[in-house]
Amino acid sequence: MDDRCETTAGDGGSPEQAPLARKIVIKSALATMGTPEHFTRFDPISPPSKLGGRAVMMGDDPALPKFSAAPTLFEFFRLRFTPDAVNHMLQSAHLALKSGAEEKMVLACLLHDIALAGLISSDHGYWGAQLIEPYVDEEISWAVRYHQALRFFPDPAVGYEYPQTYIDLFGADYRPEPYIQAAYDYARAHKWYGSARLITLNDLYSFDPDAAVDLDAFADIVGRHFRQPKEGLGFDNSPVAHMWRSMIWPRNFL
Ligand SMILES: [Fe+2]
Ligand SMILES: [Fe+2]
Repeated sequence: MDDRCETTAGDGGSPEQAPLARKIVIKSALATMGTPEHFTRFDPISPPSKLGGRAVMMGDDPALPKFSAAPTLFEFFRLRFTPDAVNHMLQSAHLALKSGAEEKMVLACLLHDIALAGLISSDHGYWGAQLIEPYVDEEISWAVRYHQALRFFPDPAVGYEYPQTYIDLFGADYRPEPYIQAAYDYARAHKWYGSARLITLNDLYSFDPDAAVDLDAFADIVGRHFRQPKEGLGFDNSPVAHMWRSMIWPRNFL
């Protein structure tokens, strides 16, 4: 068995218990596409009868911190999201706050890359908007959805230029897909264009190293504008509850 496919529950168990504490992790299809591993994903469990007492990952993952019974938005920030992405969103929200943006737009900045931080990178604006849609004002999720497209299109009238970072990341000759152009055209003529544009204006990669921004600084704004379900994110039976559960248990087999 390839050790990269296994995780352990720590060293608290007896030697007899150790094999049962080991969980075999089968990576998600999206994580292996484009690699040879994609074609051998299921080899460790084929057939299941050869597992020899070990189990496939289901339930709480010993490699990940455990959530409370009713997971909150901030728990996802602290227990799951990539620290660099969290810092990026905090800085973005901080810039928006400093510039006098209204509270719901500060929240939009705080959440704008939430999918990139914890779920999936490709089409992160769309995934992120869907994640938060049941819990925020429609304008917030709309702005998060369309910031992805707007990032590729300058608007000198408000001081937004094509990011040098995108030239560095994607190359000078990169052109967005037609669906991104179409999304931009749609958003450009929309009444909430300015809200999505505001996210891009605060979406900077060069931060003030002296500006230490704490998540708790946004607790009041989140409390006023994010409808945290009492059952917890993932357990409120909303149309996107499964997406939050997938971040709680990202390596579950099913
Ligand atoms: Fe983004
Ligand atoms: Fe961003």
